[in-house]
Amino acid sequence: MAGRLCLLALLLSLVTAAPPDMSCHCFPGDEWCWPTVQEWNAFNESVGGKLIATVPIGSVCHPDSIYTPYNAEACANLLSVWNDTATHYESSSSPMASWFANFSCDPRLPHTPCTMGPLVQYAVNASTVDDVQKTLKMAWDHDIRVVVRNTGHDYLGRSTGAGALAVWTHHMKDIQILDYEARWYNGSAIKVGAGVQIMEAMDAVHKEGLVPVVSNGQTLGYAGGFSQSGGSGQLASTYGLAADNVLEWELVTASGTYVMASPSTYSDLYWALSGGGGGTYGVVLSMTSKLHVENHTVSANLTFTTDNVSKNTFWDVASTFIKSSVSLTDMGGVAVWQVTDDMFMVVPATLPSGTEEQLQKVMRPTLDLLNSYNMSYTYNIVTYPSFYDSYRAMTPWSTVTDAQLGGRLIPRTVVDQTLTSFVDALRTITNHKSLVSGVSLNVSRIRIGVNDNINSVNPAWRKAQVNIAVGTPYKYTNFARDVAKANQVLMTRILLPLLQDLTPGGGAYSSEADLNEADWQRSFYGDNYNRLQSIKNRYDPYHMFYTLKGVGSTVWTERVDGRLCCVEDC
Ligand SMILES: Cc1cc2nc3c(=O)[nH]c(=O)nc-3n(C[C@H](O)[C@H](O)[C@H](O)COP(=O)(O)OP(=O)(O)OC[C@H]3O[C@@H](n4cnc5c(N)ncnc54)[C@H](O)[C@@H]3O)c2cc1C
Ligand SMILES: *[C@@H]1O[C@H](CO)[C@@H](O)[C@H](O)[C@H]1NC(C)=O
Ligand SMILES: *[C@@H]1O[C@H](CO)[C@@H](O)[C@H](O)[C@H]1NC(C)=O
Ligand SMILES: *[C@@H]1O[C@H](CO)[C@@H](O)[C@H](O)[C@H]1NC(C)=O
Ligand SMILES: *[C@@H]1O[C@H](CO)[C@@H](O)[C@H](O)[C@H]1NC(C)=O
Ligand SMILES: *[C@@H]1O[C@H](CO)[C@@H](O)[C@H](O)[C@H]1NC(C)=O
Ligand SMILES: *[C@@H]1O[C@H](CO)[C@@H](O)[C@H](O)[C@H]1NC(C)=O
Ligand SMILES: *[C@@H]1O[C@H](CO)[C@@H](O)[C@H](O)[C@H]1NC(C)=O
Ligand SMILES: *[C@@H]1O[C@H](CO)[C@@H](O)[C@H](O)[C@H]1NC(C)=O
Ligand SMILES: *[C@@H]1O[C@H](CO)[C@@H](O)[C@H](O)[C@H]1NC(C)=O
Ligand SMILES: *[C@@H]1O[C@H](CO)[C@@H](O)[C@H](O)[C@H]1NC(C)=O
Repeated sequence: MAGRLCLLALLLSLVTAAPPDMSCHCFPGDEWCWPTVQEWNAFNESVGGKLIATVPIGSVCHPDSIYTPYNAEACANLLSVWNDTATHYESSSSPMASWFANFSCDPRLPHTPCTMGPLVQYAVNASTVDDVQKTLKMAWDHDIRVVVRNTGHDYLGRSTGAGALAVWTHHMKDIQILDYEARWYNGSAIKVGAGVQIMEAMDAVHKEGLVPVVSNGQTLGYAGGFSQSGGSGQLASTYGLAADNVLEWELVTASGTYVMASPSTYSDLYWALSGGGGGTYGVVLSMTSKLHVENHTVSANLTFTTDNVSKNTFWDVASTFIKSSVSLTDMGGVAVWQVTDDMFMVVPATLPSGTEEQLQKVMRPTLDLLNSYNMSYTYNIVTYPSFYDSYRAMTPWSTVTDAQLGGRLIPRTVVDQTLTSFVDALRTITNHKSLVSGVSLNVSRIRIGVNDNINSVNPAWRKAQVNIAVGTPYKYTNFARDVAKANQVLMTRILLPLLQDLTPGGGAYSSEADLNEADWQRSFYGDNYNRLQSIKNRYDPYHMFYTLKGVGSTVWTERVDGRLCCVEDC
């Protein structure tokens, strides 16, 4: 699409100092292509005044800010809620992963410059198809980078971008409960607008005795990156991943075409959107997904530490729990756990429709071992009347964390056959002061549709017993040094290879992955990559949608200043 402005730009370049680089998107400050104030105003009017010019939310903490005046009280308030996801998802621009804010206007660092950095330049607070179509047209006409922003949770910064015009979907909050009828599914379903968040969907259907397939993070966008990239949670072993439950997508493609995608219409787009990554194939307006009938749910949580015991003893118990989880996942349960170098926490182990006796049997070997080692621990097991009640009581509220992420899907065969090497790898990782979070599940036992290839979920999920996410914490006070030099190098070169070596040819969950993942096409998409790329090319031939390590993203490179430039045939 860069070529469209070629002639005009060539003419203008004769009279401006800096010749335009035609392979790049137009960037703020590029006089020959960036829209004038009048053009932005006209565009704003055309979308009913929904255009928002970004004001970095941290600017109230910066004495030299050009955006908003410094305000000590507002700054103190902001700092006290900086770790709340709401601080970011209520904003049209702030990414939760601070690496992708690049120090620009960090409220915790008032003496660094307050700049726009990688934040989107403008966002349209979209509520209609028309808003989305007009926004894409504005970006196309002026060759501006497009970003689809929902809640800003993405660990790979895929909902932000320097110099971009964002479609901000957060306020698309419609919810409808449907009796869905199709050749492949008859039953209850929920149709959610693109901005509906996990807890909102749960709350809306709970009174009907129904439950959606949700994440552990309570504030993620249900129809956004979560369901579009896979989507794991405590119902995964019973009903599959979030993507496995999608019945329809309503979207606007790059050309501005409004489309309903399902297994029978635009089935290629339906396939790609259900697991093949967010922000890549179009702007989703709504998602329709299966709902399930509520039932009693039993959950347990457990915490023990290294206090008064050797590391060998501690890891012996941890290993026993990881092994026992296999029987839980085979019954339809999920275990969410975390381990550091001195603490192991199960938060929680959940068995929907199960009994206390069944779950107790899973926990027994671990509890017996804790008792035989005389270790103290806290343990609770409770039967709740519904999954909803279990989720509310047993899932710790998620917050924004200052940690660099990486991950790996660990196949069942590794847990069954080489558990010792796996646990040794986790032990080495935690020795580096990193946090390991595991979700033990089985998403291969349920038939998800008319055939096995109904969606583009990374095939590595179907073999997985555990999804491991590793977090290397850093201090924002020494951001550049800690993150780029120490943290990322540690993650990519030392920690993840320990897990990759155990899982050759395996994969990682793109939503909980290392931003520097080398073999990402294979790791994130497996054998689906080529088909995903051809669908992407069919509906977005001019590569309007770019996300870091997204399908087809190799045509672009992001320069140091954030400018997106074409490196292949664009
Ligand atoms: C605290 C926390 C907890 C988490 N817990 C879980 C968990 O339990 N299970 C799990 O599977 N994952 C979890 N994740 C990862 C999560 O799934 C991803 O961060 C996901 O990308 C969030 O999607 P979003 O739409 O809310 O966020 P955004 O960051 O706004 O968007 C993510 C991606 O989706 C695209 N996108 C969003 N909306 C649309 C749309 N309408 N149309 C097209 N593209 C769109 C964006 O362009 C971007 O590429 C967690 C992350 C965090 C930070
Ligand atoms: C768009 O118009 C609305 C309503 O007139 C106004 O409040 C808003 O500031 C405008 N946005 C920009 C970027 O000018
Ligand atoms: C990120 O920060 C570096 C160092 O300050 C700067 O050179 C670069 O231009 C910034 N990039 C973006 C996209 O903000
Ligand atoms: C965005 O639009 C919604 C209505 O769809 C409105 O309630 C909300 O206040 C708007 N937010 C901003 C920041 O403009
Ligand atoms: C759903 O019901 C229709 C008839 O209303 C039927 O043709 C179809 O086979 C049913 N689908 C399933 C999966 O049961
Ligand atoms: C464990 O579960 C109990 C009972 O629901 C709850 O009170 C406690 O806070 C939970 N502990 C952790 C660490 O999640
Ligand atoms: C509820 O759980 C019982 C077993 O405890 C099971 O027989 C029944 O099928 C479950 N119902 C639903 C709707 O899952
Ligand atoms: C645990 O405590 C009991 C009684 O105090 C003692 O007999 C036993 O040796 C202890 N076991 C271990 C492994 O320390
Ligand atoms: C460790 O031992 C000390 C001293 O005996 C005791 O006070 C403490 O409670 C023990 N901690 C645990 C977790 O068992
Ligand atoms: C936010 O989290 C960081 C660690 O990630 C912690 O150091 C800080 O105290 C937290 N801030 C608040 C206000 O909770
Ligand atoms: C999932 O569970 C089924 C039994 O229900 C089992 O046959 C299968 O091997 C399991 N798959 C994985 C990947 O754990």
